[in-house]
Amino acid sequence: MPSAVPQPVAAKLTRAAIFLAVTIKPNPEYDTVVRSLCADLAALVRAVGFRDLEGRLSCVMGIGSDAWDRLFGAPKPQGLHPFREINGVHHAVSTPGDLLFHIRAVPMDLCFELASQIMSRLGDAVATSDEVHGFKYFDERDLLGFVDGTENPVDQAALEATIIGDEDAAFAGGSYVIVQKYLHDLTKWNELPVEMQEKIIGRTKLSDIELDDAVKPSYAHNALTTIVENGEELDIVRDNMPFGNVSKGEFGTYFIGYAKSPHRIEQMLKNMFVGKPPGNYDRLLDFSRPVTGILFFIPSATFLEDAAN
Ligand code: HEM
Repeated sequence: MPSAVPQPVAAKLTRAAIFLAVTIKPNPEYDTVVRSLCADLAALVRAVGFRDLEGRLSCVMGIGSDAWDRLFGAPKPQGLHPFREINGVHHAVSTPGDLLFHIRAVPMDLCFELASQIMSRLGDAVATSDEVHGFKYFDERDLLGFVDGTENPVDQAALEATIIGDEDAAFAGGSYVIVQKYLHDLTKWNELPVEMQEKIIGRTKLSDIELDDAVKPSYAHNALTTIVENGEELDIVRDNMPFGNVSKGEFGTYFIGYAKSPHRIEQMLKNMFVGKPPGNYDRLLDFSRPVTGILFFIPSATFLEDAAN
């Protein structure tokens, strides 16, 4: 049997993205609508993307735990469960979401057109839980002013970090993603001296160089999110995007992390919110608060194409 083709989880970073999370309304007819979209998604992406091939349009579709039970039943991907909230020094909320569409392109018009086409196909079958339009901000920085994404694995390393292999053979070619929408208190953050901000992130602000171990605190963001198990560093692929609304005073980072197992992302979250050791938490969270939290399974593109059968 030919191996399953993954969705474009590790696509190259782009300048624009739409993150669309929806819930499926309770009616079996709507399940059929969703399964038929799964099967046609690749054709929709081809049709919209062909209008501007240099725009590198891509879309990754994720399926939440309850939606999986409804749409596909058994067997179920081993690591798929509802996002588990964390009550540590800070609180990571768990919020509703049956389907995720992570739409990326160089120009926003491609993202917008594909999102509209997807929503018109889904019609009354879904209600939107969250829609965020993300943009790139001066040399890959987040709105806190730090370059975000530097230590991401790329190419083969990105595939190895994200794509399921023999460990769950029925779902090989699949992946997992956790999304969290963070809102920042920028006024409070900008009152901190830059040296303190750098200690919190673990890198220098202007030049984006990792702090030397002699000066990097154990609570630095990049210390708490570096996970080593059995001598191996467990990577994830992130494609965070700034978003906001100036008149509402909303400044945010949409966190999106892909991995071949949710465990490694959950461990990073535990280190951030509870602390490692407990109490030694991520100070970024004194200035940034997640208002959503959802885990999705990303089936292979091959699985999606067969979903209507
Ligand atoms: C690194 C920002 C949330 C995982 C970084 C860096 C920045 C950053 C600026 C350093 C540059 C880089 O390597 O990318 C943020 C912001 C967040 C956020 C603004 C939300 C407010 C998260 C979450 C996770 C995470 C929720 C995981 C659950 C990582 C990892 C690294 C990293 C794995 C690389 C660590 C390393 O190997 O050096 N983040 N992050 N981040 N972040 Fe985050």
